[in-house]
Amino acid sequence: MSDKITLSVIKADVGGYVGHSSIHQNLLEVAKERLSKAKDRGELIDFHVTRVGDDLELIMTHRRGVDNEEIHQLAWDTFVAATEEAKRLKLYGAGQDLLSDAFSGNIKGMGPGVAEMEFTERRSEPVIIFMADKTSPGAWNFPLYRMFADPFNTAGLVIDPTMHEGFRFEVVDVYGHKTITLSCPEEMYDLLMFIGAMRRFMIRRVFRKDGEICASASTQKLSLIAGKYVGKDDPVLIVRCQSGMPAVGEALEPFAFPHIVEGWMRGSHHGPLMPVPFYEANPSRFDGPPRVIAAGFQITNGHFVGPRDLFDDPSFDRARQISNEISDYLRAHGPFEPHRLGLDDLEYTTMPKLMEKLQERFKPEE
Ligand code: 13P
Ligand code: 13P
Ligand code: MG
Ligand code: MG
Repeated sequence: MSDKITLSVIKADVGGYVGHSSIHQNLLEVAKERLSKAKDRGELIDFHVTRVGDDLELIMTHRRGVDNEEIHQLAWDTFVAATEEAKRLKLYGAGQDLLSDAFSGNIKGMGPGVAEMEFTERRSEPVIIFMADKTSPGAWNFPLYRMFADPFNTAGLVIDPTMHEGFRFEVVDVYGHKTITLSCPEEMYDLLMFIGAMRRFMIRRVFRKDGEICASASTQKLSLIAGKYVGKDDPVLIVRCQSGMPAVGEALEPFAFPHIVEGWMRGSHHGPLMPVPFYEANPSRFDGPPRVIAAGFQITNGHFVGPRDLFDDPSFDRARQISNEISDYLRAHGPFEPHRLGLDDLEYTTMPKLMEKLQERFKPEE
């Protein structure tokens, strides 16, 4: 066993209440009970169970490292138990994200989203867990770039000698199944070329140049695993803050601009990512607009002191207002692009079936 601690955030939608808008309290209770027993057995140091929209979020610390089979099994069993309760209540889409019948060693590729990192706890260890609903993992590219590479967002890149060297970005090509690491500021334009295409290229981890891990995101794409549309991925992101990493306020600052992400209704529309307090994380209008919450913790000897609800602040009111205005504007497009996603993104939904049905009626152009 390592003296380092591992922070694991594993999430799944195992049933919505009502529809896809929120989660039933019973599912949170089932998860707390399961993880509490694991803590008593010594498998976990500590845990926190929460949710954003209809997504159940297991936030855990332990000493077993990332990709640990027992921890992944624990998360899987917890989701299975919560699914049973969801089925009993006939909640919507019970077991939605559990794409496999049985656990097979690593929860990645089985439906749930996973973000993990292992590190030696600093003298003070502030972390933020960002959790989103009604969107996909590419949603983190824009804020991660701004936090770790943009001096107009992060003052520390200019004025803090421990950040001045910049950061390294590990980017995954989710279609090509490859990764590349690019270094900023030197390779900033190369990085932007990739991560601007956020459906395909996703920032998975960010490192300081001395190798210290700073951020880790879930990059699992449900549609690529299932081969069809089964709900959005609703990703999570861990960011360590302060002392050579972005200050808490620098990590939150990108969300003051509600950038456009894919997701929203039926996972098939573009909309603004609205930063909300925990109690407003219930996407209702057209099943959205997409939401993000930020849970701040001080990690103390592996234990969670927190959470602080970091978007519960009037300084994010304007971002919420702009999100509503953008929502009105985009919604007015109805089924037209670019509100609705392009055809490539709808490849797993109605388009192939419709094409098949109407095939005979297509005539050569005169
Ligand atoms: P304090 O002086 O409140 O510690 O703040 C320092 C800082 O880095 C704020 O971003
Ligand atoms: P979720 O991915 O949050 O389950 O949303 C699915 C959906 O179809 C919303 O309209
Ligand atoms: Mg759902
Ligand atoms: Mg969801």
